[in-house]
Amino acid sequence: MVGIYLSGTGNTKHCVEKLVSMLEDTAKIVPLENTQITNILEQQDVIILGYPTQFSNAPFMVRDFIKRNAQLWRGKKVFCLNTMGLFSGDGTGCSARLLKKYGAEILGGMQIKMPDSVCDSKLLKKDIKQNRQIVKSADKRIEQAAEQIKRGKYPKEGLSFIAHIKGLFGQRLWFYRKTIGYTDKLKISDACIGCGVCSKVCPMKNIEMNKNRAVPRERCTMCYRCISLCPQKAITLLGEKVQEQCRFEKYE
Ligand SMILES: Cc1cc2nc3c(=O)[nH]c(=O)nc-3n(C[C@H](O)[C@H](O)[C@H](O)COP(=O)(O)O)c2cc1C
Ligand code: SF4
Ligand code: SF4
Repeated sequence: MVGIYLSGTGNTKHCVEKLVSMLEDTAKIVPLENTQITNILEQQDVIILGYPTQFSNAPFMVRDFIKRNAQLWRGKKVFCLNTMGLFSGDGTGCSARLLKKYGAEILGGMQIKMPDSVCDSKLLKKDIKQNRQIVKSADKRIEQAAEQIKRGKYPKEGLSFIAHIKGLFGQRLWFYRKTIGYTDKLKISDACIGCGVCSKVCPMKNIEMNKNRAVPRERCTMCYRCISLCPQKAITLLGEKVQEQCRFEKYE
C-alpha cells in the first residue's frame, strides 16, 4: 500500500497519513510532487489517493497527474480520500471516474470535513476552537473507517450517481471556469521581501525568484500553500487580502 496526496495547507496530508498508518504502519506516504512518484506507484497495488476539494472538483494538478500517467492505473486498487471545508458532493467521484476509465478498481471513497484553506476569503472561516473540533471529528471518522476497511468494508462516499448530480449541480457547473485548467491569477504584492519560501514549497514550481522578488507563472493549482506560508502575507489568489494564514498545525 502507498498513500499519495496533494495538500496545500496540510489537511489532506494529515488525513492520508492517519488512514494509511492505521491500515499499514510501514506503508510509504508521498506527496504528488515527489519526483519518484511514478516509480513508487508502479511497485504498489493498493493506493490511497488524497486531495482537497476545489469547487466540488479535484484540483487540476490531480486530474492532470492521473491523465498524464494513464498507463499506470490499470489493475491498481485505489481508495479516494477527499477533504473539504463544507461541501464536496462527488469530490471523490471526480478522480474515481477518471481512474476507472484508465483501468483502476475503485475500492471506495471518503469525504472528510476539515478547516477551510482559502486564506484570502472570510467565507468559511471558523475560530481555532471550532477548527480543533472539526479536526477531532475528522480523526474519529478516519479511525472508524480504518476499522471497517480492515474488515473488508470500504466507505463509498461521493461515488454514487446521486453524489455526482449533487456535486455537478451543487457547485461544479457554476465554477466550471475556475477548475478547467491551471490558473495565472496568483498575485504577489510589493510587500515581498524575496525570502524564497513560496518558490521552495510550491508543488507546481510555479514561482520563480528574480532579483530578490517572487514572480508567479501561469501554472498554479490553487493549493494555497505559498499563501499560507508567506511571512509578508504578500500572496493572494481568489481574494484581494490575506485574512488568515490557514495551516493544519494550528489545529492539532
Ligand atoms: C481553491 C479552493 C476551492 C475550494 N473549494 C471548496 C469547495 O468547493 N467545497 C468545500 O467544501 N471546500 C472547498 N475548499 C476548501 C478545501 O477543500 C479544504 O479546506 C481542504 O481541506 C484543504 O485541504 P489541504 O489543507 O490539504 O489543502 C476549497 C479550497 C480552495 C483552496
Ligand atoms: S514567501 Fe512571500 S516574501 Fe517570501 S519570496 Fe514569496 S512572496 Fe516574497
Ligand atoms: S503558486 Fe502557490 S497556490 Fe499556486 S500551486 Fe504553487 S503553492 Fe499552490
